[in-house]
Amino acid sequence: MSEFTPRYLKDYQPPLYRIATVNLQIELEDRDTKVTNTMQIERQGEHNKPLKLDGEKLTLLSVSVDGVELSPSAYQLTDSELCIAVDKASFQLTIVNEINPLDNTALEGIYKSGDAFCSQCEAEGFRRISYYLDRPDILATFTTKIIAEKQKYPYLLANGNNIDSGDLDNGYHFVTWHDPYPKPCYLFALVAGDFDLLADSYTTRSGRHVALELFVDKGNLSRAQHAMDSLKKSMQWDEQVFDLEYDLDVYMIVAVDFFNMGAMENKGLNIFNSKYVLADEKSATDDDFFNIEAVIAHEYFHNWTGNRVTCRDWFQLSLKEGLTVFRDQQFSADMHSGAVNRIRNVRLLRSQQFAEDAGPMAHPIRPEKVLEMNNFYTLTVYEKGAEVIRMMHTILGEQGFKDGMALYFQRHDGQAVTCDDFVSAMSDATGVDLSLFKRWYAQSGTPIIDVSDHYDDAHQRYSMTIAQRHPDTADGQPKRDLHIPINVELLVESQVRDKQLLQLTQSEQTFVFEGITSKPVPVLLGNFSAPVKCFYDYSDDDLLDIIVNADDAFNRWDAGQQVFARQIMQLLQEQTHRVPDTVLSALQRILVEDGDNALRAEQLTIPDFQQLADMLPFVNPQHLVGALEQLHLQIAQRLATDFEHRYHTLTSSTFAKDGVAIANRALKNVCLHYLGYTDKGNDICRQQFISADNMTDEIASLHVACVHNLPCKQTMLDEFERKWQNNSLVMDKWFMLQGRQDTDEVINSVKALMQHRLFSLKNPNRARALIGGFSQGNAKHFHRGDGQGYRYLADQIIALNAINPQVASRLITPLIQYKSFSQDHQKLMLAELERIAKLEGLSRDLQEKVNAALQISA
Ligand code: TRP
Ligand code: ZN
Repeated sequence: MSEFTPRYLKDYQPPLYRIATVNLQIELEDRDTKVTNTMQIERQGEHNKPLKLDGEKLTLLSVSVDGVELSPSAYQLTDSELCIAVDKASFQLTIVNEINPLDNTALEGIYKSGDAFCSQCEAEGFRRISYYLDRPDILATFTTKIIAEKQKYPYLLANGNNIDSGDLDNGYHFVTWHDPYPKPCYLFALVAGDFDLLADSYTTRSGRHVALELFVDKGNLSRAQHAMDSLKKSMQWDEQVFDLEYDLDVYMIVAVDFFNMGAMENKGLNIFNSKYVLADEKSATDDDFFNIEAVIAHEYFHNWTGNRVTCRDWFQLSLKEGLTVFRDQQFSADMHSGAVNRIRNVRLLRSQQFAEDAGPMAHPIRPEKVLEMNNFYTLTVYEKGAEVIRMMHTILGEQGFKDGMALYFQRHDGQAVTCDDFVSAMSDATGVDLSLFKRWYAQSGTPIIDVSDHYDDAHQRYSMTIAQRHPDTADGQPKRDLHIPINVELLVESQVRDKQLLQLTQSEQTFVFEGITSKPVPVLLGNFSAPVKCFYDYSDDDLLDIIVNADDAFNRWDAGQQVFARQIMQLLQEQTHRVPDTVLSALQRILVEDGDNALRAEQLTIPDFQQLADMLPFVNPQHLVGALEQLHLQIAQRLATDFEHRYHTLTSSTFAKDGVAIANRALKNVCLHYLGYTDKGNDICRQQFISADNMTDEIASLHVACVHNLPCKQTMLDEFERKWQNNSLVMDKWFMLQGRQDTDEVINSVKALMQHRLFSLKNPNRARALIGGFSQGNAKHFHRGDGQGYRYLADQIIALNAINPQVASRLITPLIQYKSFSQDHQKLMLAELERIAKLEGLSRDLQEKVNAALQISA
């Protein structure tokens, strides 16, 4: 049934032609933008194969070779390709075509975001601008001339340096940009519009003066400073940690409201979802501020890991993404708390990446087969990819890793390379053999390690046996044993006795510790040293011992998470299970003692629905929701006075943005969440909402009111709407929270909100907020037994298929991961998937996922 053909990593062929230079002239108009593309093309080696250029949704006007226009019989044109036979080894090719930015709702290629033109080319969007060899191993030098109406579009931006500009007839003007660094076309960018400009500068360590320019919608200048500060911190961090400096005279960032992803690292001209730029204390939460800093850093770090050294082909995406996520995680850890950052990374991995690896789209961090590349910007490629880089960092040590990075740039600057090249640089720089380790790139699935032990009293010898297992994954791939670094501590009579990095390289290995004076409690996988599930038969007391006494903060937190998970299992077996006093008093201690409140907030947060579902095969989602409610309820009611007391000690009279204040708000709002289960909840929530002087507190109270369906909810929603209706990022939060309401009416209210004057399926942030808020943030009602939740999501995916396939394809995730649930729910989810599969004009993006979910082979 599939009209689309997948591509395979094993079929990679070097290009038959190379493009040395690109000269673009782009005459911007809403519906008929004219693109003139003059390329210098060199045949690679001796062959007489035709030149095949990619092109989609283009209207071809003319093709010329060395200045002579070809007759249409001299080339073949299809929906996706322009094929030209040229018998010259080196020639100039000029292609003229038209595109339609205004009707481009897929937001790939050149499109309009509000009144501005902008572009998005990664992964394969350049072919929607001009005919081209649209693959990352074609590195060309770009010169771009943009022509547009001057009054509407005073700023005309592209990659590199501004080399020429001037006025034209009829109120038009032009700017010409030249980027001296050869680059793949996915890094091409163009923006035209009227903006407010926040200008600053940075002097690099070697004295290069760089202009920093941040473009935002008119009126938003006061919300751009945090992004600018974050950029400067990122530039400084990369110099200090990796000796990497910026390399152009200008670094531009443009914030747009219509964007499929977070942000894009186009050379010298980043384009950002405005969500990751705009912030002020009144309208942005502490998490928003944190995320902006992290995404600004991520895109900045790509200038070296991605742009200066890029990917040979898209199967190598993790070469740049896994590495750049690792770099932004290290940056965030240095800027804030290392432990809390690590915990949040692990939560994301366990709740979403593990589910991806267990679902129908399971793939290695370097995929082997791709139908639609946009489907592989995944948690696996990004987050698990970063874990794989982190494991190398753990194995090689900080200095070894830095030496490897230096060798990588020394060897590959200006090249398009593979993940193998990266690992070779790491290995050659340190002399460490990583040949077994490399299997991580080719193997999907979350490994399981089983730990058992034996204590020999007479010899004071402790031995620990670690085995690895690899559950089958949907890609049907055979599994091999991996090289897994495991940080271990031993707690002997509650004292930390031994800290070691063990390296598991076989299916089973025994590690012996001498001079251990009594049977220790092993503390495993410190700092989450590998993206695996680790099992050891702890007693409840062992876990409580780790919570208090382990050296590693991740382990202390993780032991608490295991305690929560056990309580969930027991509640699933027996609804009347009473959470033991020992557990309650451990939580009480965390709650009342002083210390790092951000860490405490994490310790008091129970694993989420997704993460627990991943641990419980074929669980009935309603039962799991019930168990989660019970656990929260028992903790909240039995520790009610402690939560209330703690809550009140953490309410401060004036707003501050430092780490301590942020941590206090985090813990306070965790308390508020538990108080939502008690009869004090409504008053406290309402009071916090009224007195909040910052968005973190304001939104937390609205959130609690929605998820507990408190009496104060509706008034607060109405007041919030009146107050924030002109701020679209804040309104996204409002739409999202309404999807999370715990009421049988929630699907009706979500449907009604789709008629709200501010709702549009064409705006990805808005669509994700409302539809994703419900389907990914409201397990109870999404998984309703009558299937209405699934039906609603499928209806929206069908509507989005025609508007924006990338957004549709991301939102379908909870439907395709049906296999973790009980049969009755699986049936209902499958029925919706089958309905989507039958849709006429189903996009390649959705087809790949739905076919995988329904096990239809391509
Ligand atoms: N390279 C971008 C990043 O990681 C990701 C990205 C931005 C993207 N926009 C996209 C990927 C559109 C696919 C499609 O920062
Ligand atoms: Zn990235």
